[in-house]
Amino acid sequence: MTSDQTLHAAWTRLADLAARPHSRHIRALFAAGPARASRFSASFEDLTLDFSKSSIDAHALTALLELANAAGLQDFRHRLFAGEVVNPTEGRAAMHMALRSHADAGMRAALPGGIDDASGLAAAERARMQAFVEQVLGGAVRGATGQTFDTVLNIGIGGSDLGPRMVTEALTLAHGPKLRARFLSNVDGHAFQALARELDPARTLVLVASKTFTTLETMTNAHAARAWLAAALGEAAVGAHFGALSTNLKATAAFGIAPDRVFGFRDWVGGRYSVWSSIGLPVALAAGWEAFQSFLDGARAMDIHFQTAPFAENLPVLLALVGIWHVNALDLRTQAVLAYDERLRRFPAYLQQLEMESNGKSVGLDDVPVSHATCPVLFGEPGTDAQHSFMQLVHQGTQAVPVDFVFAAVPNHNRPEAHRILIANALAQAEALLRGKTRGEVEAEMRAKGASEAEIAEIAPHRVFTGDRPTNTLIFRELTPYALGRLIALYEHKVATQGCIWNIDSFDQWGVELGKVLAGGILPELSTGATPGAHDGSTEALIGRFRALRGE
Ligand code: F6P
Repeated sequence: MTSDQTLHAAWTRLADLAARPHSRHIRALFAAGPARASRFSASFEDLTLDFSKSSIDAHALTALLELANAAGLQDFRHRLFAGEVVNPTEGRAAMHMALRSHADAGMRAALPGGIDDASGLAAAERARMQAFVEQVLGGAVRGATGQTFDTVLNIGIGGSDLGPRMVTEALTLAHGPKLRARFLSNVDGHAFQALARELDPARTLVLVASKTFTTLETMTNAHAARAWLAAALGEAAVGAHFGALSTNLKATAAFGIAPDRVFGFRDWVGGRYSVWSSIGLPVALAAGWEAFQSFLDGARAMDIHFQTAPFAENLPVLLALVGIWHVNALDLRTQAVLAYDERLRRFPAYLQQLEMESNGKSVGLDDVPVSHATCPVLFGEPGTDAQHSFMQLVHQGTQAVPVDFVFAAVPNHNRPEAHRILIANALAQAEALLRGKTRGEVEAEMRAKGASEAEIAEIAPHRVFTGDRPTNTLIFRELTPYALGRLIALYEHKVATQGCIWNIDSFDQWGVELGKVLAGGILPELSTGATPGAHDGSTEALIGRFRALRGE
């Protein structure tokens, strides 16, 4: 068989397995094989992925592993870590792993202009970041008035915001930050207005985080912050308060940021993979250098696991394959993520970009539309909050929504009972989704409580849960910086694995361009009125309505 035929056969096998009458019956699988919890789970260090509450059986798992092989996952993984061009539409490597490698790891990364010593460059920049963090936290680097900084304000959006914001919060919520961090992403003026009320310009260090240093929202906010600071402290004070995290050194210089305040990274780091680079500087300032370094170490450990573990024991590969089973075999097009950990409350927001900007694609690497579904719609909230918002639909809605439950066994607070309540809820949600509640069970329960037969006939149908709804559980010991780095890298490699199997470029993001261009055209028309014929009728009318409501 040619490799195309092998791949086609692997997809067909998966579809055949999904078409079996019992392909969605998870309860029956537990009844038939009570040991499936150990058979369909895998661990790396103290992190366990339990995917036994899915309808994957031994045949399905074998077929999924065959699909990964047929899709060339071995070769893709090799090319990824060798720094080859795995992002062909932008002609780049995706070498964020070098950012957490040791200086002498020798990782290299391809760019249109040549090949970088990625490990060496990353280590050199890391040393500059560490020195800066120590100077700021030690009080050697201060604001223009001689006061120490009490806040770092990160101005960035997308990958220049979601990663550092989520990680900073996760690592500082328990014990408080070494330096308070605030994040400004939205171009909506209300966001900066609220921050400006709260911040003291004399004690604020502003980091403009933008890979390209051209993003409209970030540059608009950076200019607003600059004007705010200059108005309070004078134009001469700006240099002492601003730094930049970027690959575009020309643009940072043009903005007036001194080279020693610019922390760089290279184009082989995608925005949504950049928290490990200088984009992570606010994390290091807020959580301290040691925490940032262990965050990188955790991700490096997952890199090694992903590179070396056999697919059948490889957490990112297994997590990816479970997702493939749900999306492609069972046609489940959504994915919820519930971290039962307040510190991870922004984890779903982070994953939304990681997964959907990476794999929300419909054209394959062979330049033609793919013939299978790709990335599901991902959403989430922290548990237990989610239980009181969208979980009704997950339990009883017309579609099954696969859920990832994520939690740590040991909290970093001293209220063990609260933690037990939290985790009991996580486990109960997953169990309820699996087990459901039959009509007979509901009727018996109602009868036992004295309900009349008329009441039972009317209400019982509404209280039935179908069950057999799939979930994964990710459990680890404690949410340390190391564990968080490992968790994020797990999802990064899951995304890359799925991208390989779906045969798409997980590292470009052309889909965000069109809206940016059209916004540029509409912007002047909000002042002048729509150019006749330039838009569809709705857009033209809404521009008119906007102007009318403003009395223009
Ligand atoms: O949303 C599109 C995008 O290009 C993301 O990929 C990126 O993370 C974000 O914009 C911000 O870009 P930059 O860091 O260049 O300002």
